[in-house]
This record gives sequence, C-alpha cells and structure tokens, in this order.
Amino acid sequence: MIFRQLYEPLSSTYTYLLGDKVTGQAILIDPVISAMERDLAEVHRLGLKLAYTVDTHIHADHITAALEMKRAVGSKIAAPAYDRLPCTDVGIEEGRPLQVGGLTLEPIHTPGHTDGHFAYLFNDRVFTGDALLIEGCGRTDFQNGDADALYKSVREKLFTLPDEVLVYPAHDYKERFVSSIAQEKRRNPRLGGDKTIEEFRDIMANLNLPYPKFIDYAVPGNRQCGVCPPDLPDNLERYCRKMTDSPQG
Ligand SMILES: [Fe+2]
Repeated sequence: MIFRQLYEPLSSTYTYLLGDKVTGQAILIDPVISAMERDLAEVHRLGLKLAYTVDTHIHADHITAALEMKRAVGSKIAAPAYDRLPCTDVGIEEGRPLQVGGLTLEPIHTPGHTDGHFAYLFNDRVFTGDALLIEGCGRTDFQNGDADALYKSVREKLFTLPDEVLVYPAHDYKERFVSSIAQEKRRNPRLGGDKTIEEFRDIMANLNLPYPKFIDYAVPGNRQCGVCPPDLPDNLERYCRKMTDSPQG
C-alpha cells in the first residue's frame, strides 16, 4: 500500500493519496483544485492511475479538484450520497465500503460540521475530515452545522474506534500531521476527557470566528463537484490559481 499526505498551504488542507501497488489504482481524498497538477504528478510519479477522488464533505474553504481530475484523467467522483450532488459517480453511504483495487474505505457518517459529512476508516487510519482535527474540530455554525451532532459523531463514533487508530484530519494550522484516537480522547480540549455535551455546545457557541471569506464561492462551486466561479474577486482569485511551490501564508 502506498500512502502520501499532501498539503495545500492556502487553505491548510491535507489531501491523502492512497495507492494499491498490485493493481496500480489510487484514490485521492479531499484534493484541492489549486494543487491538482502537483497531486496528479505525484500519482503518476508513483506509477499509479487515479481511479477515484473522494470528498469528506462540501468544503467551504477551498474548491475540490474532483471534477477537473475527472476531466483530466477520467477518475470517478465519490462523495456523500446525503448531499445528493448530481455530479457524483458514486454516492457514499455508511455501511457500504468503497472498494478500489485492494483499497477499502469504510465510510462513517459524522454530521455536525456539515450534515452530510463523512469520515473514512482505512485499515489502521481514519481520515476525519473536519469532524475531528488535531486538538480541535471543524466549526458548526454554517452548512447545517450542529454542535450536538458533532459531539455525538466524535464521541459515539470516532472515539469508539480502537485507540491505536491514527487520525489524519483534513486540516492543520500548526504544522501537525497526525494524531491517534487515544491522543484525541485524552488531549482534545473541546471533545476529549470528560467534556460534556453542554460544555461542548458552549465552546462552539463562543468561538467568535469571522465569516469564512471564501464560503460564498466555494460551496456553490463544490456543489458542482469543483467549479471555479467566473466572478471571483481579485483577492480570492488565488484559490483557483495553480499552486506555486513557494510557501504561502
Ligand atoms: Fe469543512
């Protein structure tokens, strides 16, 4: 099995590349449109063929590369069936594993950040999207977010996975790469330890986060599986521009 953690600096997004050495098939989880060429080059450098892109949810901070990758290399688009996007090839549902060559993703419905959010268990790893971040979690104040639902998704679903399962989130803003179920159960300041649902509700209601600057473009674009809107203001145009190798803030 081949595994790579790729990073898109503008939205601090982690994209995960899974490859099956035997069949040569690959999956990209949460690919970002601006990093598409870098990601496809990595797939090909490893001698793989991209079979599927899989999104954890309808992102508000970047545009998925799903549609452009399908156009470029014929990959299929998998995304939560819950969101009923007509552009998907495969609608993901809990209890129905996605099998690609020798790779098996077990979808776990984890609503709360968005209502259609999914995490994916892959052997001894879980890709938690924005439901569970390293010592954090996604916000719950947009896209049918719901703090109570997120508390239950994390505590009753993700935290019931074996302690040693590695946690790979969709984002990290502090240069951390991986955690584990045991570590998040102990150290997550919002959801770990003996945090109650009332305490979590309170934390999430008082984050005082700014309105997401790209959400009004990203969500409609992602509901089409990754279309860059033609009317992007100049200050947001870089979200659809090809990523350069230079570090960005
Ligand atoms: Fe998100």
